[in-house]
Amino acid sequence: MTVPNEIVVGGARPLRGRVRVPGDKSISHRALLFAALADGRSTIARLATGADVAATRRSLERLGVRIKGTPERLTVTGAGVDGLREPDGVIDCANSGTSMRVLSGLLAGRPFLSVLDGDDSLRTRPMARVVQPLRAMGAAIDGRADGTLAPLVVRGGALTGCRHTPSVASAQVKSALVLAGLQASGVTEIVEPGASRDHTERMLGALGAPVTSSGGVVRVEAGAPTAFELDVPGDPSSAAFFVVAACITAGSEIVIEDVALNPSRIAFVTVLQRMGADIELEPHSDRVGEPVGDITVRAAPLHGTTIVGDEVSVAMDEIPALAVAAAFAEGVTDIRDAAELRVKESDRIGTVQQELGQLGIAVESRPDGLMIRGGRPQAASLKGHGDHRIAMAAAVAGHAIEADSTVRGWSIVAVSYPDFLADLARLSDGDA
Ligand code: S3P
Repeated sequence: MTVPNEIVVGGARPLRGRVRVPGDKSISHRALLFAALADGRSTIARLATGADVAATRRSLERLGVRIKGTPERLTVTGAGVDGLREPDGVIDCANSGTSMRVLSGLLAGRPFLSVLDGDDSLRTRPMARVVQPLRAMGAAIDGRADGTLAPLVVRGGALTGCRHTPSVASAQVKSALVLAGLQASGVTEIVEPGASRDHTERMLGALGAPVTSSGGVVRVEAGAPTAFELDVPGDPSSAAFFVVAACITAGSEIVIEDVALNPSRIAFVTVLQRMGADIELEPHSDRVGEPVGDITVRAAPLHGTTIVGDEVSVAMDEIPALAVAAAFAEGVTDIRDAAELRVKESDRIGTVQQELGQLGIAVESRPDGLMIRGGRPQAASLKGHGDHRIAMAAAVAGHAIEADSTVRGWSIVAVSYPDFLADLARLSDGDA
């Protein structure tokens, strides 16, 4: 599907009806990887439709994994880690940090050479956080700038488990080390410096792999998951944009169906409720260790809040959406301990400040955060900055303003949610 590069939004029409967002991106990456590690056929439905997960699929195919079907429903025929083959060319992770970092852990233990590369944005993102701990397990892995930037070159081989104490709370780093640990001799432990999403531990544990987590320490022994069937729940990070849109657009009432409600992903709901939002969560099922349910949102007046510490770590991907809520709220919202925002798909402290500034909102930035003074945002010419979440944040802000705004660089939404605009239009036409 082609996504336009420039869109017009506005009208402040209320959002009404029910919507399903694409399958969760983090769970989708893991579903493909874990199915490839299992022995036998796994079936995955509603895989995330964006380019990031497509990059993981292509990478696994390059490694010899048989994957058939479309994201709507596909089968993966895994032959265990030993079934993976040396790729005959560079593995292209495109814009996807998760693909590159998690694959580096998987490939560190394979007895062949792999080269992982990505687009201009991914080549600027920090890789020492996976390269260094993988080296400590015996991996031969290198990259540009002394092993800190992609492309990464992995000469895989025998790994030895050890105790890691990473300095950043990162689910991608943790997952890379877990995949290395499943192939290593002895025990691998990861002592988490703070909260991060826990899909890897939940899913692998539910699929019978020797991975446990307790008191902030993840423990892994050699082993593999079993094949599985999974209907991927909707992505809460995508849902967050509709949640915020419904909160700030008067007269809105929507239900977002079948969303992953993993506690390490829905801190943004707690933040919005603290800001005065009217949101209800209704959990209804459990899939490979992941709680799933519906989210109901009604428009409500918001006020500022403070977001710090572990809460900010587990709401990191939703900060662009929360920043839009803050721009429409009364009073000041203070976001601290968020230096990781600087090394996402864009420098999100800089890009959020710039786009909210365009809307006439006063934003102060610090090295590790933002202070947003809510007000009456005005229509503007906005940009996506090569970052899908900044583009969607801009669209949600523009939608909630009466006059029209433009968003340039819109096509980057294809990374996680190619149909976002069509779903926003259906909800605001009230026929969703
Ligand atoms: C992800 C982890 C997060 C998140 C990213 C997806 C994952 O990054 O920002 O969008 O699927 O593991 P961290 O590695 O910084 O936790």
